[in-house]
Amino acid sequence: MNKRRLKMAVILWMILLCTGCTSGNSLKEKDSTMKIGITIYNQYDTFISSMVQEIMGYSQSMEEEKGMKIVLDIVSAAGSQTEQNDQVEKFVENEYDIIFVNLVDRTDPSFIIEEAKSAGIPVIFFNRELVEEDMERWDGLYYVGAVTVEPAVMQGEIVVEAYEKNPSMDKNGDGILQYVMLEGEAGHQDAIVRTEQSVATIEESGISLEKLGYGIANWDRSQAQTKMLELYKESGERIELVLANNDDMALGAIDALESLGIHKGQWPAIVGIDGTAVGMEAVKSGKMIGTVYNDAIGQARALMDIAYRLFQGEKVGEKYFRLPHSTITQENVMEYE
Ligand code: GAL
Repeated sequence: MNKRRLKMAVILWMILLCTGCTSGNSLKEKDSTMKIGITIYNQYDTFISSMVQEIMGYSQSMEEEKGMKIVLDIVSAAGSQTEQNDQVEKFVENEYDIIFVNLVDRTDPSFIIEEAKSAGIPVIFFNRELVEEDMERWDGLYYVGAVTVEPAVMQGEIVVEAYEKNPSMDKNGDGILQYVMLEGEAGHQDAIVRTEQSVATIEESGISLEKLGYGIANWDRSQAQTKMLELYKESGERIELVLANNDDMALGAIDALESLGIHKGQWPAIVGIDGTAVGMEAVKSGKMIGTVYNDAIGQARALMDIAYRLFQGEKVGEKYFRLPHSTITQENVMEYE
């Protein structure tokens, strides 16, 4: 098992075994226990796994700081909305105080909303954004995520800056950057915006782009590797830039180039989004020209902070909580350790 698979397996194990776990071992005798049911769309997603890890770590500090007990019941829907609906139904039956939902299908939250609403249990959706009309269906619904357009613009800016510093990114010197796009899930709010706005930002800076191809790789490293192998077969060294909607897909592109035995000096410039630990490693080693930090820690903490406020009976007026991004390149990647 390589290091990446091992890490994934450990996180998956933590998720699957966490049912009913409490996040602390120094619990004081307390009358109040906050019980949170958490369902994620897919246990193999690197970014979501890092959020889950932070939720667990932060809830442990919260227990200590607030002198309370927190029970987290964390499950994965393994890509099935029906499965996720059943999970939420169980959370409701077990009278959990709050439910966090990372929707499988962001257009299909009706069952969850109705279940939670009829039981009066607040739901905080996160990362996979439902449409506003659904959010308006009850005042016990909240959303935690990232500012949507910002990372795409920042990704474009990383490319613009890298090109200004190093015009030989245009390998054939035709004054046009030939690129391929690795896209997240079709219909995902982030995939749509990132795909459009990264390109728009680069073009607005005056750089000409030519799209050689694209692949939908569902945020997934191995799917991206397969897509990149296909794209490379079609366009080969003509590819000067790989724009990936997230780090895992950028890493999949790197895996493809490495498996083809292509010398690093011949690689296209590759850029991701998320700033996961593995993504930052690739920036440090110069395999990626940069990434955009998607604040998994901030979003995880926001979820827990809102949960705490609701648990305390506070009326939380705002429904949307969006965290900002920042740009990571080789120049500042050390600051993120
Ligand atoms: C995005 C993130 C991706 C993936 C996706 C899942 O915000 O950048 O890596 O985790 O969410 O919904």
